Amino acid sequence: MRGKFITFEGGEGTGKSTQVELLAKYLTEKGFNVVKTKEPGGTEIGKEIRRLLVCGDKDKMDATAEALLYYADRHIHMVQKILPALEDGKIVISDRFADSTTAYQCYGYGERISKEVIDSLYKIAVGNFKPDLTIVLDIDPQKGLSRSFAKADGMEEKELRFESHALEFHSNLRKGFQIIAQNDPERCVVLDADKSIEELHQDVIRTVCNRLNLVANRYQKIQN
Ligand SMILES: Nc1ncnc2c1ncn2[C@@H]1O[C@H](COP(=O)(O)OP(=O)(O)OP(=O)(O)O)[C@@H](O)[C@H]1O
Ligand SMILES: [Mg+2]
Repeated sequence: MRGKFITFEGGEGTGKSTQVELLAKYLTEKGFNVVKTKEPGGTEIGKEIRRLLVCGDKDKMDATAEALLYYADRHIHMVQKILPALEDGKIVISDRFADSTTAYQCYGYGERISKEVIDSLYKIAVGNFKPDLTIVLDIDPQKGLSRSFAKADGMEEKELRFESHALEFHSNLRKGFQIIAQNDPERCVVLDADKSIEELHQDVIRTVCNRLNLVANRYQKIQN
């Protein structure tokens, strides 16, 4: 049986990496075979692309170059890692996927690149493939950014290129994710991320169980 593909999306410091980690641990403990991954940087080549994108001066490249690099990373990630794992029946959880490119490179920059252009990159690089479930973490950008800056304090190579944009960029981004979720309610669920890590984790588990019926299926299998 084909596996399931779950993505976490949202702005800076919304808690994506924390919740990916907790969900992966939870599902593994329930007996599922889980692959935890991220964008950019889910593959060896992707790690090099990630450095180009998330480190350094915010103005070192424009939105078009960023979108092309993100989609190069995504194509390699999908072909080399995500699809093979899904074929093996695994649950793949990715820290960001295509919605981040739409939100950042289209909405974040005030639609300097049109949604149509981003959608055509999606068609070229990803085709008809899409996540089974996307969880969008939503928080006031100022709160998210202060979490991100606090976290980066201890990092050797600071991944703060996008955090360096003005607050307007981050507000656009938040609206962008909300629009994306509204336009695809079958796939996307928005969760209020202004909660404790544990409370949000419980919301994530509830969402995954309701939308994918995963744990219930597994439970039935064990019962039979
Ligand atoms: N619900 C929460 N309440 C308070 N702090 C949190 C919460 N979730 C995560 N944090 C803390 O905020 C920081 C950012 O969290 P995390 O790295 O999970 O966010 P992220 O969305 O992955 O950020 P980025 O966009 O920078 O990758 C971390 O130091 C984390 O421990
Ligand atoms: Mg993160």
